[in-house]
Amino acid sequence: MTTIIDGKEISKKLREDLNKEIKNLKNKYNAVPGLAVIQVGNVAASSVYVKAKTKSAQEVGIEVIDHHLEESVSQDELLNLIEKLNNQKNVNGILVQLPLPKHMNEQLILDSIHPDKDADGFHPLNVGKLSIASHNDENLLIPCTPYGCLLMLKGLNIELAGKNAVVVGRSNIVGKPMAQLLIKESCTVTVAHSKTNDLPNVCKNADIIVAAVGRPKMIKGEWIKKGAIVIDVGINRIEVEIDGERKNKLVGDVDYKEAEKSASAITPVPGGVGPMTIACLLRNTTIAFKNSR
Ligand code: GUN
Repeated sequence: MTTIIDGKEISKKLREDLNKEIKNLKNKYNAVPGLAVIQVGNVAASSVYVKAKTKSAQEVGIEVIDHHLEESVSQDELLNLIEKLNNQKNVNGILVQLPLPKHMNEQLILDSIHPDKDADGFHPLNVGKLSIASHNDENLLIPCTPYGCLLMLKGLNIELAGKNAVVVGRSNIVGKPMAQLLIKESCTVTVAHSKTNDLPNVCKNADIIVAAVGRPKMIKGEWIKKGAIVIDVGINRIEVEIDGERKNKLVGDVDYKEAEKSASAITPVPGGVGPMTIACLLRNTTIAFKNSR
């Protein structure tokens, strides 16, 4: 029997726990965590994510400070806003939704967020802390998507130490921090990417596969070892024909139907990693609030 890892259910429990914690923090400090959410322009996917993040944050009791800027805003204007938020007392976390417009230097913007308010865990100081920390440090601000993946793996209650983990994708947002987290769990980690030789065979060796390439159904069923755990980070919109009509559908980076036959556990798309990313953002914001006290 293949376990379908229910990200919706796991994230619901996380959000309920956060809601309780935030109520206690409010009693103790007469204040709640504040999250500034910045969106520049109107990329459709970003609007969907920002809306979902805002709604979830408010539901757990986080105050959301929303800044939706025009696509044409200058880099200096954005830097000024971040500087203002860095000094704003009711703001504990700052999130700049990516991607940013082409006229902006994304890394420069991420570097300008105060590391203590880095809700995404993308600041170089937090990236460095994650790679150095040898144990789980409750105060760390860890990138949300890979941390969500780790929590799903831990929820399976299996021994992670010694497992062969293959992370497909080497992005700063997912692939690299995912590898760091798995190293901390004493997995043997391979980071594969577009230049990897013989990717199918690399994947066939994996006890755990984390797919984060952004290509619909790229990881095939026959690449999955019998009993492997498959975590699919991909959220790809494709057009399919249903009853003679062309419709949009969300699919992952893994060919789910085929992979499910070999995997011992697998995350669905949607309803897998996506909700976990949001819950971990709320967790980071709450950690940043507690660290500030
Ligand atoms: N764009 C895609 N994923 C993310 C994320 O985790 N954080 C931010 N800020 N932007 C993203």
